[in-house]
Amino acid sequence: MVKEKFYVTTPIYYPNDIPHIGHAYTTVIADVVARWNKLLGKDVYFLTGTDDHGKKIADTAEAAGKSPMEFVDDLIPKFKDAWSKMGIEYDRFIRTTDKDHEKNVQSMLQKSYDNGDIYLGEYEGLYCIGCEQYYTEKDLEDGCCPIHKKPVEKVKEETYFFRLSKYQDKLLELYEKNLEFISPPRRRQEIINRVKEGLRDLSISRTSFDWGVKLPFDKKHVCYVWFDALFNYVSGVDDKSRWPADIHLIGKDIIWFHTVYWPAFLMSVGEELPKKVFAHGWWTFDNEKISKSVGKVINIDELVAITGNKDSARYFLCRATPFGDDGDFSESALVDRHNGELLNKLGNLVSRTTGLIEKYGVEKCESGLVVNFDSINSLMQNLEIDKALNEIFAFIDLCNEYIQEKKPWATQDKKVLYELADAIKNIAILLYPFIPSTSEKIADKFGGFKFTKEGLNLPFDVNIEIKKGEGLFVRIEQEEPEAISQKSGIKKKDKKVNKEKKAEGVMTLGEVTFEDFAKLDLRVAEIKEVEEIEDADKLYKISLDVGENIGARTVCAGIKKYYSKEDLIGRKIVYFANLKPRKMKGVVSEGMLFAASTEDDSQVSLINPGEIANGSQVS
Ligand code: ME8
Ligand code: MG
Repeated sequence: MVKEKFYVTTPIYYPNDIPHIGHAYTTVIADVVARWNKLLGKDVYFLTGTDDHGKKIADTAEAAGKSPMEFVDDLIPKFKDAWSKMGIEYDRFIRTTDKDHEKNVQSMLQKSYDNGDIYLGEYEGLYCIGCEQYYTEKDLEDGCCPIHKKPVEKVKEETYFFRLSKYQDKLLELYEKNLEFISPPRRRQEIINRVKEGLRDLSISRTSFDWGVKLPFDKKHVCYVWFDALFNYVSGVDDKSRWPADIHLIGKDIIWFHTVYWPAFLMSVGEELPKKVFAHGWWTFDNEKISKSVGKVINIDELVAITGNKDSARYFLCRATPFGDDGDFSESALVDRHNGELLNKLGNLVSRTTGLIEKYGVEKCESGLVVNFDSINSLMQNLEIDKALNEIFAFIDLCNEYIQEKKPWATQDKKVLYELADAIKNIAILLYPFIPSTSEKIADKFGGFKFTKEGLNLPFDVNIEIKKGEGLFVRIEQEEPEAISQKSGIKKKDKKVNKEKKAEGVMTLGEVTFEDFAKLDLRVAEIKEVEEIEDADKLYKISLDVGENIGARTVCAGIKKYYSKEDLIGRKIVYFANLKPRKMKGVVSEGMLFAASTEDDSQVSLINPGEIANGSQVS
């Protein structure tokens, strides 16, 4: 049987510095998409690499006192190392200095020239080296490039032009015919409008420096870096039949190059067009632009070091923001997801189930815990990466609730444990594209299984010895807990944002999304001990039993005025289990209790969950 082919690419990055979280983002998503399609049984090809040529690299190398080749040769291993540290498995790492690519670019230039699309002229204009792009006066802000805020270079030189103007109608036709060519769809109209304004012929050669591919028909000229770079997608395949690409994944910064220049170049040389260009959003770091000069840059070693687990970083990048939208990265947001979702939800499900199976074993049965693969797959086909993860985690939640409900620790019901084992196998398969090494760890505990779509329907082998072993994730304690308002539980920072938005009249209702709310982990707990705290007239130090999974926790609560110690001991309450610990009067408080209070705080009443088992989820 011939497997269906699937070809995905990332941009080829400029090796002018080591890669950071922004580069990791596109590359991780491409890896996830590649692995997902492998899971479906497709013959997948995944290309990434570096954009070695151009003025920016030549200038940076010169400033570093190196030849451009020496300079990029030193950086390439850093990229490869970063991708291996993120668990990325590409099929080829292409460099535009690779000989086969240079030959391909020359042959494409020659074809386009022979077709009459390239002609000699003189260019006079403005160029930003940071962008490797020409600008007109009206594009500039105070004489500077609008992106890099640096002065542009005046260039006046003999140059070859590409007849971009000729392709205006053909491009517009392409956008009309293939509605997915520019994705997500909301980015289409802007491109269409700009193309409708008219396209000027594009200067595609330079003579003032020589770090690039020489034009085959005029060796004085080197090829414009973007003409060179874009053709990597065609040069990089191991077999010509892989072209066209199914998806070019890119950041929104380079959508113009990929949806205007690129299809025009391809039309000119008579190659097929890629099926889809998907432009994702932009990451900031602590709400600031990622930038080396202001120290707001996070490289791959630093990213992985935050949790010590590459899968947590991959998971965060995939889930923290809707794919296509901008996102903000912060250490604490990553740690929250690591602790609150990977450890508390996935890790606990696996450790509880394997622990109980070690004790009681499993017995084969028809499982009632069924995950909806088709729905997850259709989200993945639409590149709704975050939503696919939401669904997988909703299934994990369901399994955790199932344990709570069936109490296999008390009933020793082997069939329930079989159902859970089977569900975990399927969770591991579905999560494999996102967090492959975690899925491999799970498979190890279950005697090994294959990560294929078919594997989802294979019954679980009851003869395999299941081992609990080590936990999948290690809890990360955050050093400086952010201030949390005792009363509302909403972070002060968020409150401020809400206020500002309100003042602008932007937001009225729905400031907390369902997702925000779902982040809270509310549990039934029992008060075991109550102690006074020195110098505190409102606070008690309270020891809680939060069930076998979470165990004992300590919280400081300002309820001394309302309850005596005797009132409290033995009482069942609702506990916020995943708030960041904070120090109060020298005691580390690990969360809060749920209570109702009057506006003036004259009355406070702890919420009573009734006689539900400690550790049960409140939702
Ligand atoms: O543009 N947020 O290379 P480049 C999200 N060589 N993604 C980000 C990001 C951020 N803050 N920063 C970078 C080039 N990226 C050309 C490409 S392709 C034929 C040639 C990612 O090193 C995102 O994918 O400037 C963006 O498009 C890419 O890095 C730009 O990488
Ligand atoms: Mg860039």
